[in-house]
Amino acid sequence: MPSVLNADPGRLFDEVARLDAAGVDAIQWDVMDGHFVPNLTFGPEFIKACRDATEVPYEAHLMIEEPERWIDQYVDAGCETVIVHPEVSVHLHRTLQEIRRLGAKAGVALNPHTPLEAIRHVLGSIDHLLVMTVNPGFGGQAYIATMEPKIAEARALIDGSGFDIELEVDGGIGPSTIAGAVGAGADVLIAGSALFRDPEGLEHAVSDLRARAVAAQAPKA
Ligand code: DX5
Repeated sequence: MPSVLNADPGRLFDEVARLDAAGVDAIQWDVMDGHFVPNLTFGPEFIKACRDATEVPYEAHLMIEEPERWIDQYVDAGCETVIVHPEVSVHLHRTLQEIRRLGAKAGVALNPHTPLEAIRHVLGSIDHLLVMTVNPGFGGQAYIATMEPKIAEARALIDGSGFDIELEVDGGIGPSTIAGAVGAGADVLIAGSALFRDPEGLEHAVSDLRARAVAAQAPKA
């Protein structure tokens, strides 16, 4: 799943169509408010304007304070999944219920320092669990490999819960880091700079990362 944060901001519609042609499974929109994270990005109108560029699912990763005030607008913009941060969700359980009531899939994203304990009691209310492997705010940062034990803990938590939850990893994913994240138990890999900066182009980047991920998957017992 590519992060659009690293795309050419002057050609978002075309960039989304290019990602689709490169064979991605879904597209993540990193929404930032300049408060929760030190960057400002996509209002719902940007996403809505690019909805017709592809049919692949859209995921809104809300790195914003008071996300509950905005979730309906991101669903309206065409996001099938809305992910919020428990660090800024005072009433997280209620917010997750509201995302599902709006007909979207609900998810939580954890900053590197945030323990899994923060979401243990809302596992039944989520479809996606995202473990950040960078401190959120920018693309092109270094992968925090010390998050791999946390990814493995999340894998065990999900497998032990009986719920159907996708385990996503986001930040610094590329040819040299993807195997570690998949080996620790990730299902979905978010990648930005590794896709848009590949000298052999987007299609090569997507197929190369997918091949490395498949090769790194632990054989099912
Ligand atoms: C960072 C974002 C990530 C980022 C990924 O706050 O949540 O999705 O854009 O970009 P790379 O893969 O370059 O780290």
